[in-house]
Amino acid sequence: MERTHSNGTLRLSHVGEHVELVGWVAKKRNFGQLIFIDLRDRTGICQLVFNESFSEKTKDVRNEYVIHVSGTVQKRQTANPDLLTGEVEIAVEDFYIINEAKTTPIIIADETDALEDTRLQYRYLDLRRPVMQKKLIMRSKIAHSMREYLDGQDFIEIETPMLGKSTPEGARDYLVPSRVHPGSFYALPQSPQLYKQLLMISGFERYYQFARCFRDEDLRADRQTDFTQVDIETSFLTEVEIQTMMEEMMVKVMKEVKGIEIKAPFLRLTYDEAMNRYGSDKPDNRFGFELQDITSVFANTEFKVFKDCLEAKGVIKAIQIPNYSHITRKDIDKLTNLAKKNGAKGLVWLKAADGDFTGSARKFMSDEEVKALYEQLNVQDKDMLFIVSDAWTRTCNVLGALRNEIASQLGLKKKDEFSFLWVTDFPMFEWSEEQQRFTACHHPFTQPKEEDIPLLDTDLAAVKANAYDIILNGYELGGGSLRIYDNKLQTKIFQILGMSDQEIQDKFGFFVDAFQYGTPPHGGLAFGFDRIAMILSESDSIRDVIAFPKNANAKCPMSKAPTPVDPAQLEELHISIVEEE
Ligand code: AMO
Repeated sequence: MERTHSNGTLRLSHVGEHVELVGWVAKKRNFGQLIFIDLRDRTGICQLVFNESFSEKTKDVRNEYVIHVSGTVQKRQTANPDLLTGEVEIAVEDFYIINEAKTTPIIIADETDALEDTRLQYRYLDLRRPVMQKKLIMRSKIAHSMREYLDGQDFIEIETPMLGKSTPEGARDYLVPSRVHPGSFYALPQSPQLYKQLLMISGFERYYQFARCFRDEDLRADRQTDFTQVDIETSFLTEVEIQTMMEEMMVKVMKEVKGIEIKAPFLRLTYDEAMNRYGSDKPDNRFGFELQDITSVFANTEFKVFKDCLEAKGVIKAIQIPNYSHITRKDIDKLTNLAKKNGAKGLVWLKAADGDFTGSARKFMSDEEVKALYEQLNVQDKDMLFIVSDAWTRTCNVLGALRNEIASQLGLKKKDEFSFLWVTDFPMFEWSEEQQRFTACHHPFTQPKEEDIPLLDTDLAAVKANAYDIILNGYELGGGSLRIYDNKLQTKIFQILGMSDQEIQDKFGFFVDAFQYGTPPHGGLAFGFDRIAMILSESDSIRDVIAFPKNANAKCPMSKAPTPVDPAQLEELHISIVEEE
């Protein structure tokens, strides 16, 4: 099929040229003597003008027909400033219909009010919308830019198996039954963690992979069942050397894809600092409202809530929102509910006016405490204070959630502003209430800080790890760590995590064995590639940057997956379905 140009590329410089174009009919307007059609392809829209002689032939042409035209580029009488091709149009000399189209169930335009499930059911049409095409094209550009950087740094792209053994990343595995080995299952990888470490033992030194990962977890706007990581591992590099390369890569991506110069090195916060200042291990620092520790103001408090908290070795922290004291009671109640959802027993609020406060807890505060608060926080008229007193982690988490919510309400999370930072020195372990034992905060292969190794025998909660996350605008963009490369230490960590020798052998035998044959010091990280594409394309959900995503119920409204299968297939796999009572 003859095609001389893409529709979106035509400009005044083409005037007078004969062109042949193909595309979809985006819009048709019939003015009797003249008929206009907007012809769309992935590069954009170009206006076609048909004279009266085409009126019969164009009669049946409807939106989304695929057509071929030939004609001459001419200058438009009135330019359309909204289109890149807005100064020209094509005087059509001939055309034919390549294919017809039924009326589409969703309108093919940037703006849509279609329900998300309808969009996902007809995803191939949803993806015809220019706004969606731009997102996927940007995703491809980001991938290209990252690959180019990594190739330039001598990273080697290596694929690892999809059908493997389960690795402990914390989520549930998707299992795949083996036909050949009745009763045995492969697991789809939650990440290629073990394989990439083995590749370091093999001596590749620098590995990367755009790895599909699978996790059976509850879905959110930034989570999918199957998603893509840019998975990276290196040997013989320090934590800062690894981070510096990743910064260089993101600086390049931001420049090439967004045209934005980002400054490196990025801000580095330890986990403790991030929690203390932002109430989050993925802080969004596009706005202020940092948490302030006001425990000392209330050292001698008579307010029972604070007093009990201090006796239990808790802390008292506040966030201070300027010019926010006009907030209604109803909105305060909503924030209180949010605080409770995050585990707070309650929320203390104070409105500043005329050198004093009004609010829920004022009557329990002495004048000295009011004065001390004014001084420490440099309180101004119309400030609003939200105060939480509880155990350190909970206090931070609750105020962090409030801080984020208030910033959203005030429109401070600007999508075209990009703030990268590192959070480092994560705890090695976290206490699981559910399992009543310590679990690995990142994963069991993460290296504890050298100076904290003695604490492995005395105080697990205090052990910090050489683990780091890269954060963009309050999202965890990626996470990684230096790895343990000493067999004895690895076995000790497995034991701390409650695994018997037998379990270690069953789950990780091949991995532990490999470590005996000369293991280099190594470390790396994995970026959530869908998240990068989501944030850079200024989308609200990773579903918008994945061609065929699952909906929030982990279903694909288009193919209807997951679906029951043929009983014969199940039989072959030695599987029978047990109906729930
Ligand atoms: P982690 O579990 O932190 O680390 O995952 C790395 C990054 O992957 C992204 N991510 C997800 N994106 C979309 N949907 C999901 N369900 C999902 N889960 C995770 C996040 C996250 O930061 N093997 C380690 C990495 C390493 O240690 O090198 C790992 O998988 O952006």
